[in-house]
Amino acid sequence: MTETPQPPVLVTRRLADGVLDRLTPVAAATVHDSEQPMTRADLLAALPGRAAVITTLDDRVDEEFLAAAGPSLRIVANHAVGTHNIDRAACAAHGVLVSNTPGVLTDATADLAWALLLAAGRRIGEGERLLRSGRPWAWAPTFMLGLELTGTPLGILGMGRIGQAVARRAAGFGMPVAYHNRTPLPADTAAGARWLPLDDLLAASPVLVVTCPLTADTRHLVNAERLARLPAGAVLVSMTAGVVDEAALAAALGSGHLFAAAVDNFEHEPAVDPALLAQERAVLVPHLGSATVRTRQAMGGLAVDNVLAVLAGGAPLTPVR
Ligand code: GLV
Repeated sequence: MTETPQPPVLVTRRLADGVLDRLTPVAAATVHDSEQPMTRADLLAALPGRAAVITTLDDRVDEEFLAAAGPSLRIVANHAVGTHNIDRAACAAHGVLVSNTPGVLTDATADLAWALLLAAGRRIGEGERLLRSGRPWAWAPTFMLGLELTGTPLGILGMGRIGQAVARRAAGFGMPVAYHNRTPLPADTAAGARWLPLDDLLAASPVLVVTCPLTADTRHLVNAERLARLPAGAVLVSMTAGVVDEAALAAALGSGHLFAAAVDNFEHEPAVDPALLAQERAVLVPHLGSATVRTRQAMGGLAVDNVLAVLAGGAPLTPVR
């Protein structure tokens, strides 16, 4: 009796507990068991002959990657909802399917957007640093006043799944919601949120959350000129690296035009623009949007399910076209 060899699968990063339990019985999985990305050289060396690769946003999937993997490669399953690390046209040209992990990280990411909105508006980072510094302080009627969210209009740039989940949470704060998307949503999906042209949205948003995906069209969409359109004293939360120009954001904080800002992920991760780090009113967190145990298990599980579906001869559950 001959046994069919198990398809070789590369997993480019350690995944959450239990995620690989369904993969390892059916595939010969090689796991880069580390929280650090693979070096490019190690990645390219590990690719030849793989049938599937589970990638992260740090792994650039381009001609070089695809050529290194060779014709055995059937799917790149990105462990992220974003796909800006992947040259989709090159994958299509090589007949390689691409999947991502939409849906399962929506709530965790929307929760973090709210954590950041509250932290920026109510000066949580500054307050923490003050206490830990040991500097003297005293409660005072004028001490560390912040922006009250309740009833304040909320603008959302990018009303996809995550934007809609951010909007739903606004109901608890009594905040009227306006948004900008390339195309207005059907009324039942918009759930009372008002579509505005981008510049009008900016002008009407004392609080703005940016959740649109990074594409060639959205890179630095929120530049110095657009930041200037926000009302003076606005608070901005950026949930997608590359859409808000980080240098312009630091300048808008430095000039006092913005009251505060918060950023979850960065254009040149793991580096953070020193100009942003220098801003006391910037709340900066290391790409934590989807970082809960439940969500990371769901993202890993979906990446594995996409691989399993394709290895079994089917289509990915959540394909990227
Ligand atoms: C971002 O972290 C993503 O999942 O795309």
